[in-house]
Amino acid sequence: MAGPKPPRFAAASLLSLMVLLIVAAVQAQSGPQFIPNGTLFPDPDGTSSTYNTKSNGIHQDGAFFQSLGTNGRSCATCHQPGDAMSVSAADIQQRFDSTQGLDPIFRTNDGSNCDTSDVSTVDARRNAYSLLRTHGLIRVAIQVPSNASFTVTDVDNQYGCNATATISMYRRPLPSTNLRFLSAVMWDGRESAGPRKITFDNYSEQLIANLLTQSLDATNGHAEGAGLHPTKGQKKQIVDFEMGLFTAQTTGNQTGWLNANGATGGPQALVTQPFFISINSSIHFLGFEPPAGLVTPGDGVPFTSAIFDTFNAWGLLPADDPRAAVARGQELFNSKQFNVSGVAGINDPKEAGGLIPITGLDTLPGATCGTCHDTPNVGNHSFATPLNIGTGDPMPGHPEVNLGGLDIRYLPKITACKDPNNAATCKTTTDLGQALIDGNFNHLGKIKGPILRGLSARAPYFHNGSAGTLLDVVRFYETRFDIDFTAQQESDLVAFLSSL
Ligand code: HEC
Ligand code: HEC
Repeated sequence: MAGPKPPRFAAASLLSLMVLLIVAAVQAQSGPQFIPNGTLFPDPDGTSSTYNTKSNGIHQDGAFFQSLGTNGRSCATCHQPGDAMSVSAADIQQRFDSTQGLDPIFRTNDGSNCDTSDVSTVDARRNAYSLLRTHGLIRVAIQVPSNASFTVTDVDNQYGCNATATISMYRRPLPSTNLRFLSAVMWDGRESAGPRKITFDNYSEQLIANLLTQSLDATNGHAEGAGLHPTKGQKKQIVDFEMGLFTAQTTGNQTGWLNANGATGGPQALVTQPFFISINSSIHFLGFEPPAGLVTPGDGVPFTSAIFDTFNAWGLLPADDPRAAVARGQELFNSKQFNVSGVAGINDPKEAGGLIPITGLDTLPGATCGTCHDTPNVGNHSFATPLNIGTGDPMPGHPEVNLGGLDIRYLPKITACKDPNNAATCKTTTDLGQALIDGNFNHLGKIKGPILRGLSARAPYFHNGSAGTLLDVVRFYETRFDIDFTAQQESDLVAFLSSL
């Protein structure tokens, strides 16, 4: 953020020093193999940490950290404890610089802009891996399903991946942590699609089953597995490990410890955070009878838009205390109302036989951030609800930006038509989302609302990395949903998001 920095607390400066000492001590004493619980990893806004409930820390020798395929990659290549179990673009750039673009993340199967990119020299690699270096994007290539109700008529991909049968899209690694709160696995929900849908009744078994399959698919895909690994035992070890992890921002540069003075930031409070599918379901708020398939015990409890209570205690501090800004941001997240329109998954007409959409209102008045980010203190959607808020859709008349005004020139343009002979039935976008999984044209660009913890450690944001900073995220929503935040409110909301 621009502008002069507010004065830091003496305590916060002392804390930064402590962080450096702790990180240094961990590196010096135990080598890279073991990360004790409580280890703080610096990020631009303070530090994050990952708490392992199944051990006294993270032993970096399990299957998650081993190369199980043929290209030298492990899960940790893209899911790093120091980056809230994702990987920030800044750290990828650093890896490029320190290895001249030879680190295992730089592989052409899905790390380069296209699999045909030239990677023979450092300069060629800098070019080939530009999306990965600058936006942290992995190429996700998915075949158009044979039963699709649409045809992809054109792919305008500046990097050469122009096929119309298998579509190349560019996505951020989702964090492999806080997984207990997931209602859908992957941005497009492909690991929890169809019969593998996670419901209130099957939640515990189905989530684990989907993650087991995900670990196999990730090895075959990202690590170019040769079919030998992961073994059944390795899959179980990976999923056991992932399911034990809880991650959150832990200290703030301006605020100090995020669990001090009555606040409950940091990863440990997440361990006991209640969750079940459809907890705090926002369907009720929408005032509609939920379709039979969506009625669960959670639906008996009225929806509250007060998603986060993490920083309630800081609301009592003097207004100029940096911690009060975090509490004000939380209040905006919980209660600032705006109208939502044009969001497929909320505003589109009810489809015969579809569970989604929720309503069919042209405009949903009185929405809040929590209408979509409804899981208490976590912020993902508590039931599988793929939505298209327009992060990948070109703005009419301004195709260089998305519907929230963020640059998307670096992404391909993909045109899908219900009827290839009728231009009026076509839509051009940058990521087909759920439509490539279930073949349904109406699901074009729909993706899940992700978990909002550990954000500061893993910029950029949105599935396509179009928001470089959390302020970009906030400005996206201002443009997209016509919200008027004052500069102070923008800054408070950013202070809150960067404390999660
Ligand atoms: C080359 C980078 C890369 C590697 C290696 C990798 N992943 Fe991922 N991971 C991603 C990307 C990108 C996504 C999101 C893709 C999407 O949704 O289309 C993702 C998504 C996930 C998710 C979904 C989380 C959610 O919220 O839905 C899990 C879990 C996961 N990865 C675990 C693993 C495991 C386990 C391994 C090792 C077997 C692994 N990943 C290897 C890049 C990687
Ligand atoms: C209409 C539903 C909806 C509303 C309202 C909404 N979001 Fe989102 N949010 C989403 C979806 C869907 C995504 C994923 C979009 C993507 O990745 O392209 C998302 C992504 C995000 C992300 C990025 C997370 C990441 O890991 O990259 C942040 C941060 C966020 N939202 C904050 C907010 C805030 C703050 C508000 C209120 C001002 C808000 N959202 C309102 C649906 C919504």
